[in-house]
Amino acid sequence: MKNNHSCQAGPAAAEQSAVAHESCASGFTRMRSKLSFDRLVEMGAKMGLENPLFVCHDRAAKATTLVSGKEYLNFSTYDYLGINAHPEITEAVTKAASVFGTSAGASRLVGGERPPHRELEQAMADLYEVEDCIAYVSGHATNVSTLGFLFGPRDAIFHDGLAHNSLVQGSRLSGAARYSYAHNDCDALEEMLKTRRSEHKRAVIVTEGLFSMDGNIPDLPRIIELKKKYDCMLLVDEAHSLGVLGKTGRGVREYYGIKPTDVDMWMSTLSKAMCGCGGFIAGSRELVEFLKYGSPGFVFSVGMPPVIAAACSKALEIMLREPQRVHKLQQITRFFLEYAKSKGLDTGAAQGYAIVPVMVGDSMVAGFLSAALFKRGIYVMPVTFPAVKEGTARLRFFLSAAHQEEHIRKTLDAVAEELPKAQAIVEKYQREHQDEAQTDEKSCMK
Ligand SMILES: Cc1ncc(COP(=O)(O)O)c(C=O)c1O
Repeated sequence: MKNNHSCQAGPAAAEQSAVAHESCASGFTRMRSKLSFDRLVEMGAKMGLENPLFVCHDRAAKATTLVSGKEYLNFSTYDYLGINAHPEITEAVTKAASVFGTSAGASRLVGGERPPHRELEQAMADLYEVEDCIAYVSGHATNVSTLGFLFGPRDAIFHDGLAHNSLVQGSRLSGAARYSYAHNDCDALEEMLKTRRSEHKRAVIVTEGLFSMDGNIPDLPRIIELKKKYDCMLLVDEAHSLGVLGKTGRGVREYYGIKPTDVDMWMSTLSKAMCGCGGFIAGSRELVEFLKYGSPGFVFSVGMPPVIAAACSKALEIMLREPQRVHKLQQITRFFLEYAKSKGLDTGAAQGYAIVPVMVGDSMVAGFLSAALFKRGIYVMPVTFPAVKEGTARLRFFLSAAHQEEHIRKTLDAVAEELPKAQAIVEKYQREHQDEAQTDEKSCMK
């Protein structure tokens, strides 16, 4: 697996670690071979494809990025509002660092808080018009720890089939019965609630506000109806909708005009439109207090670095002050959809909000297409099984308010040209290696 663009300590370091892996029978080399990412990269390497993962950037990734001194159009990071490295954010971070340093030093429960923590939480509670908010040091841990802590074996968690890994992991950790309903299918959800809800003490429905794989939006008003009808709580993960949906970026709540308290837990990460890292749960004071005293990912983990809290507060301030960024993001995504359609490209279920897949089907075709685009100065990642179902591999484009129409034209023209070439490479390889595959199959059946 070679990758000429990852941030390595030098060729010697890479060689040494490879030797260490090979010589250690109890190491992880064999276990790694089971990872689907690795299998894909290995398969790609056999077919002459360079590893597209762990690319090392020379500066902040924005609408464009710099890799090994070369500029690329960037569609692989989530700077939705185009404010990563914004001078006001950098200034806020510098000021906070000079007063508070870079670490919270301990869990906030025992090591105490810094003003940026509470300022950020208050601002998020105000944004969602709920009583309070708790910020965790990681977005992934927010979901794992919140669901894992709040629910137990007598409870049930009903989640969308495409819910993010952190939501699924949290559900598993809780020990609650876990019911995954077909993606965005409220009839399927209702069917499950009808047959299963009464078997459990408490129940929660879990959805995303904007789905990260397809760029589509759930029917939240209907989910709220179901939550009320079947006496459930509701958690909405706003990771990709905060800063993206609604006239002012207030997310799926603003998009539909939802009453804030109709959702029990407004969750979001801070790593996307908010240009930081971490996550939060906004909701009732009682819920937030309970999490603050009990949720392991908060109680037993260091507080978010105050500099990051300061960065996120400033990002939120910019979002609210400059709604034109949200409008621009929505406009450029619509343009992307229209232009893709005019080129005959399939954008799946995308609705025109920051995330647009270009459907490719085969995982290796997606890999080759991504590599060909990289050579042409376009950085966009393939998404393959197991992140999405087999046969639904795609290139996933994250758009930013900083993208321009000419960026989109250049990119989609290149996609339309390179897609048939990538398909041809994979088909040729499959034809040439058909015999090998059949021999492998036979030996497996013996
Ligand atoms: C829907 C969703 N929830 C949670 C997370 C985890 O957030 P983070 O990457 O900030 O830890 C992600 C990450 O991409 C996500 O897409």
